[in-house]
Amino acid sequence: MAHASSMERDEGSCVWRAPSNIALVKYWGKRKEQLPRNPSLSFTLDAAATTTRLTYRKKELAEDAISFDILLDRLPQEHFRPKITTFLKRALPYLPFIREFHFTVETSNSFPHSSGIASSASGMAALALCLADMEREWTTGYREEDFNKKASFLARLGSGSACRSIEGPLVLWGKIPGMQGSSDLYGMRYPLEMHTAFEGYRDTILLVDKGKKKVSSTLGHGLMEGHPFAAARFTQASKHLEAIGPVLESGDLEAFTEIVEREALSLHAMMMTSQPYFLLMKPNTIQIIELVWEFRRSEKIPLCFTLDAGANVHLLYPEHFSDRVNAFIQGYLVEYCEEGQYICDQIGFGAKKM
Ligand code: PMV
Repeated sequence: MAHASSMERDEGSCVWRAPSNIALVKYWGKRKEQLPRNPSLSFTLDAAATTTRLTYRKKELAEDAISFDILLDRLPQEHFRPKITTFLKRALPYLPFIREFHFTVETSNSFPHSSGIASSASGMAALALCLADMEREWTTGYREEDFNKKASFLARLGSGSACRSIEGPLVLWGKIPGMQGSSDLYGMRYPLEMHTAFEGYRDTILLVDKGKKKVSSTLGHGLMEGHPFAAARFTQASKHLEAIGPVLESGDLEAFTEIVEREALSLHAMMMTSQPYFLLMKPNTIQIIELVWEFRRSEKIPLCFTLDAGANVHLLYPEHFSDRVNAFIQGYLVEYCEEGQYICDQIGFGAKKM
């Protein structure tokens, strides 16, 4: 990958908006520096996104220290500092210019900070895109086709799933034998054709628990080390990834539902059986799942759910069932959401420079 050779400007800024993503096949378990134990695949989202302005100013002396200010909605956020420091330190070998600048990172999310929706994927992706953009501007002979790859590579160093928040609508992360271009180092646009059934696919995020994450991703991934079911889980994820390809091509929504829900429940099963163990679903999560199953059976509508490492429920369904699913949410599910809140989103096409 290209490296910026000569830094021509002393100051400047750029702004990127990066979306969140929801994994269909989950990444849970990592090795070395943010490398996945198994390949994963996600839908890129549209509305849930982070917008970040990165302003840079050359330091008087190029010390080794990483130097930045971080603001969320214009307010300084000291508690974000450790995560961003780790990210910038990891990125330094690939972007040596980082040590020459003082950065101001001004960020805002399209979703409320207190929604329990993790902003690390979209946040790290937006910051990585800004840094990759600086490098692109200053590097002679930069190959445009390398840009997304580099941004995804960098985003991964901040938060694994962030590497799937650069492109859309479907992103694969992880080396798959026989799939050209797939890599553990960065995400790529899923190369297989996606059936029109998935165009405009909806993701309504039911906010069951808006509190802070109960288990950090770092701790959660760590729990897969020495986990008694780890090997079987990594094999299962790889098999799901293999199986979901033809399903996405054919638009078989029954098979899609089965893989996606089994993935979600497997992720939680891993947490329920690790040492120490965690129960991240809430009673309302289970109530919603039961009602989704009942609705699917009785209405013959391919509504399915998936979960992240928390209690919130993502409802996935085809666009043309939106009215009926929304009526179902309003009538039956909203009472299980904290303060009746949910976020309406849909499949998106990736990050944008603003
Ligand atoms: O990117 P991290 O380290 O926060 O891990 C994310 C893990 C899950 O969201 C639970 C699954 C996934 O693949 O996104």
